[in-house]
Amino acid sequence: MAKRETGTAAALIPPKPTLPMLREIARGCQACDLYKTGTQTVFGEGGPRARVFMVGEQPGNDEDLAGKPFVGPAGKLLDRALDRAGVDRRQVYVTNVVKHFKWEPKGKRRIHAKPSAGEIRACLPWLEAELSLVKPDVIVALGATAAQTLLGRAFRVSQQRGQLVSSPYGMVLATVHPSSILRVPDDEARHAEMDRLVTDLKPVAAYLRRAAA
Ligand code: URA
Ligand code: SF4
Repeated sequence: MAKRETGTAAALIPPKPTLPMLREIARGCQACDLYKTGTQTVFGEGGPRARVFMVGEQPGNDEDLAGKPFVGPAGKLLDRALDRAGVDRRQVYVTNVVKHFKWEPKGKRRIHAKPSAGEIRACLPWLEAELSLVKPDVIVALGATAAQTLLGRAFRVSQQRGQLVSSPYGMVLATVHPSSILRVPDDEARHAEMDRLVTDLKPVAAYLRRAAA
């Protein structure tokens, strides 16, 4: 049982954590108010030695219900993009900056709401602990929330997408969030955006091939 911590999950991280340990403790996290609206904590998933570490913003509706990251429409699009880029999905750990679903009601639906700076700060110790355990070769930031959390508020995905840049966390490549592609109404424009995502992810595949050689 985790006790309530106001403002940061830092105090919940044990001195010598393992991923299964963190996942279990994070289940009881109440470090920000999002635990009240989310169904459950959606912790990261993937092998402890994954070379690629992908970070989204927060779980969506489907992830909130399943308890797993990137299992809904955005995750399926991401899987297709990884496959087309030649990134082996088994080499990928997936997680989010914020581990609870933040939403607003719209009719009977729960629609995504943007996490606040305070919620991001509160949840960051979980992401940092995941990073320090997985020790990936490449971090992929999906969308502005993840990119700015890892690379600073001045980072602009539109200007530096697809480039490997160094950060205190290691090498980071930022690109758009797969959900943003799902929202493009025009078929042709959506396919073009998907092609750009695949192009952005290709350096990751190349990096993995070089590392394996
Ligand atoms: N969007 C995210 O940012 N993360 C998920 O896990 C699913 C959708
Ligand atoms: Fe804890 Fe993060 Fe959930 Fe807030 S969003 S309660 S910090 S796991």
